[in-house]
Amino acid sequence: MVRLPVPVLSRRRFAQFGAAACGLAVLGRPARAPAAEPGAQSIKLRAAPTRVRLLPDEFPETDVWTYDGAEPGPTLHVQQNVPLSVAVENALPEATTVHWHGVRVPNAMDGVPGLTQPAIKPGEAFTYAFTPPDAGTFLYHSHADSLAQVGRGLAGALIVGEAAPPKVDRELVWVVQDWRLTPNGSIAPGFGNRMEAAMSGRVGNTVTINGRVTDAIPVRAGARVRLRIINAATGRLMRLAFAGHQPVVIARDGQPCDPHEPADGRLLLGPAMRADIMLDMAAEPGSRHAITDDFYGDELAYALTELVYDPGPPVRAHALDAPVRLRPNPLAEPDLASAVRHDIAIAGGMMSGMGMMGGMGMMRRRATWAINGVSMTGDGQKDMPPLFTIPRGRSCVLALNNETAWWHPMHLHGHSFRVLMRNGVGVPHREWGDTVLLAPRERAEIAFVADNPGDWMFHCHVTDHQMTGLMGVIRVA
Ligand code: C2O
Ligand code: CU
Ligand code: CU
Repeated sequence: MVRLPVPVLSRRRFAQFGAAACGLAVLGRPARAPAAEPGAQSIKLRAAPTRVRLLPDEFPETDVWTYDGAEPGPTLHVQQNVPLSVAVENALPEATTVHWHGVRVPNAMDGVPGLTQPAIKPGEAFTYAFTPPDAGTFLYHSHADSLAQVGRGLAGALIVGEAAPPKVDRELVWVVQDWRLTPNGSIAPGFGNRMEAAMSGRVGNTVTINGRVTDAIPVRAGARVRLRIINAATGRLMRLAFAGHQPVVIARDGQPCDPHEPADGRLLLGPAMRADIMLDMAAEPGSRHAITDDFYGDELAYALTELVYDPGPPVRAHALDAPVRLRPNPLAEPDLASAVRHDIAIAGGMMSGMGMMGGMGMMRRRATWAINGVSMTGDGQKDMPPLFTIPRGRSCVLALNNETAWWHPMHLHGHSFRVLMRNGVGVPHREWGDTVLLAPRERAEIAFVADNPGDWMFHCHVTDHQMTGLMGVIRVA
């Protein structure tokens, strides 16, 4: 395990600095439901610099970039199959776009500057209009100057409701973000450090739930909670363990899956990945149970938060026994027999063949990573030549080979895919997703029907990696 270049100022460490625990933190997000007008839904979002409180009260506030003054942006609750429009106003000092991560939008609404639209200049606005075809947990985030813009906070949850949601006592949406803060609470400079970009990317020292360092989540014994977790970090991977609880995964990346307990009970989430889990609050009233993240090893493990049980009696004597399976979304099933197959080789980074030794050509182009020997850098550019073209409607298998020593959550725009194989072995639930996490040296095969025409980004969601070459375009035509 390679050590992070910065110390993790965990919640514990902040507690040591400061006064008493910050008590039961605020859990709610400003939620934004569109104007109730049957047959259409419309929302406004204003991107602007704002000062917010991320840290416990004894620490200073932080200058961030927000949608509508909220960090993260307001949770957008919208309906499946109902036309949605979102008018985005740019009050930032630089151009921006909004990407609807995981939503199968028409290409022109995908929010990739240069590739699918000109970036929205400061003082200008752009209206995104699309009809969400799938119910589930999605996110929206900036796709312009992505490392700095998402790193300064431009992300939020997009929840597309189900027609018949499973019965629960409570639903929580957690947008989990990772910040690198200085002791005075401001965002540390140095986005795009070359050395970091060739390694794990910019990993921070402060992890927030819905924009606050959160010590405690108050819960009631006996309750069933649906928790939608969104990893909205630009670089941090998370492996969450729920002490004393058995999370059941019911959806990944917004797409329903066979309900199952994650391998060794821990939930692994790379940047931009989501999981919907069911949590039965089966512990004793008055007890406390940490949710910990040990992805970077024991030394850097920290408690994301704690489930703090109300001392009152359980809300029910026996666990709810209502079904938790979600109805699948209308995704076309790939036909493996007739599928076109493309190999994707991911190379670069420190400690691998190409690495920083990639020759002066690569250094000059500020590329550290490559897909099939090609490095596209930045956020998306006009006239990026596609890696390959898939005829519209064809099934496609992508055979990904991570030749590097680093983890890569690889994301495809405009489609959801099934994860078929890992290192040549069939994946148990063949789950759908829009982001597949590759361990160092891992191979994976994914399959989808290329039914959404356009030029689609395919990139690593460790934003430093994307910006320095781990990005390409796949054309569906
Ligand atoms: Cu979540 Cu290309 O992005
Ligand atoms: Cu996306
Ligand atoms: Cu990567």
